[in-house]
Amino acid sequence: MQKIQIHGGKELKGSIKISGAKNAAVALIPASILCDEEVTIYHVPEITDRDALIHIMELLNGKVVISQDELKINMKDLKNAVIPENLAKKLRASYYFMGALLGRMKHVEIYFPGGCNIGKRKIDFHLKGFEALGATITEDADKYIIHAEELVGTKIYLDFASVGATINIMLAAVKAKGVTEINNAAKEPEIVNVATFLNNMGAKITGAGTSKIKIEGVRYLHKSIIEVIPDRIEAGTYIIMGALLGNNLMIENVIKEHLMSLISKLQEIGVDIKSNKNNLIINKSKNLKPFNITTLVYPGFPTDLAQTMTVLMTQCNGISALEETIYSNRMGQVPYLNSMGADIKVSNQTAYIKGKTKLYGNYVEASDLRAGAALVIAGLIADGTTTISHIEHILRGYEHIIEKLRNVGADIELIEE
Ligand code: EPU
Repeated sequence: MQKIQIHGGKELKGSIKISGAKNAAVALIPASILCDEEVTIYHVPEITDRDALIHIMELLNGKVVISQDELKINMKDLKNAVIPENLAKKLRASYYFMGALLGRMKHVEIYFPGGCNIGKRKIDFHLKGFEALGATITEDADKYIIHAEELVGTKIYLDFASVGATINIMLAAVKAKGVTEINNAAKEPEIVNVATFLNNMGAKITGAGTSKIKIEGVRYLHKSIIEVIPDRIEAGTYIIMGALLGNNLMIENVIKEHLMSLISKLQEIGVDIKSNKNNLIINKSKNLKPFNITTLVYPGFPTDLAQTMTVLMTQCNGISALEETIYSNRMGQVPYLNSMGADIKVSNQTAYIKGKTKLYGNYVEASDLRAGAALVIAGLIADGTTTISHIEHILRGYEHIIEKLRNVGADIELIEE
C-alpha cells in the first residue's frame, strides 16, 4: 500500500505554484458535453478526480486529448450510455453528468455519486431543479433515470446555496427553452468559472457569483476555451503550512479575493503574510493568538479549509474553536491529531482546540481528502516520523503534493508498505 512518510520540523523556503482548482475543473470537464464542437481547458490539475472524469467522458464516446495540464475535449459524437456504479462512485463530481447529459440529450442514467465521507450529502436540490425544468426522475435503488421530453426555463429557489445544485441546474438550463432563474444560488468562484466557460461557447448566463443567476436558453454551443481558476483551497492549505514553517515561503498564482476570509483571519492572529501581485509571502509566526471560526458558504470561511485550520489551532496559545456548519462529519482528522499530541475535544459540530501543544510523529490515516491534508501539515510540524495511510484521498485533490513540498525543503516521500 502506498503511504506518505514525513520527517517533521523542516522549514519551508522557496516557492509553490498553485494548480487549477479541483472543484472548478471537475465541473468544467462534464460541462464540455454541452458543446457541439471542440473545447480546450487550460490549467487542469493532474489529480485522480480528473482521470475518473476522463474515463466517463470516453465511455460516452468523447475524444479527450491530454497534454500536460491542457485538455482538448470533443463530444461531437457523444453516445449516451449508462454511467455505471463503479465510475459514478469514484467521485462526487460525477453528479455533473446529470445536468450536462440532461441538457444535451434530455436523458441520463447514472448511479448516485461517491466522494468523501464527510456526512450526509444529498442531491435533492439538484433533482428538484431538474424536475422544475420539466424532467421526470425515476429512482431505482441507487440508480437515477432522468428524462425530459423538453426542458423549459422557470424560476427555481434553492433551499440552501448548494455549489453542486447551482452548477448542475445551470448545465441543464443552458439549452432549455426560455429563461431559467436560480434564486439563492451559491456564489463560489468555481461557479463563475463554469458560467464563463459556457458563455464563451455562446450560452447566455448572467449573475454568476451573485445569488440570482439568469440563464437564457440557446440551441447551439460552439468551440471555446477556458482556463481553470487557481485552487483557493490548495492555496489555503500551503498558506497554513507557511504560517507554521515558512521562511519567506512564496505561494504563486493566487487570487487573493478568493481567500479573503483566510488571509484576514491569519493577519488578525499574528501571521506574517505579505502580498505581491498574484503571490503571497509567508513567514513562520511565533506567538499565534487563539481564534474562532465558523464555516459558511462563500464568501464566508470555506468548509474545505476547516480541517487544515484545526492543525494551525493546535499551535496557537490558548483555546480556539472551529464550528463546522456545512457537513456533519468533517472532524475525521481529530482522533489522529490527538494521537500525535494535540488536545482537541469535539462537541456537536464544534472542535475546541487547546494550544499550544507539541506534536509527535505517528501512524495516521487520511479518512477523507481535507483530513489527509491536515495530517500532512501535522506531520510537517511534528517531531519525528509520521506515516499517513489511505493517501488515495489526498491524491484525488492535491496535484503533485509530494514534489511541491519537497521542492521547498520538506522531508516527505511516497513509500510502499
Ligand atoms: N445538500 C443537500 N442537498 C443537495 C445538495 C447539498 O442537502 O441537493 C447539502 C449537503 O449535504 C451539504 C451542503 O448542502 O451538507 C453543501 O453542499 P454543496 O452542494 O454546496 O456541496 P457539494 O456541491 O456537494 C462542493 C465541493 C465540496 C465543497 C462544497 C462546499 C465539489 C465536487 N465539491 O460540494 O468540496 O465542500 O461544494 O463548498 O465541487 C472538497 O473539495 O473537499 C469538497 C468536499
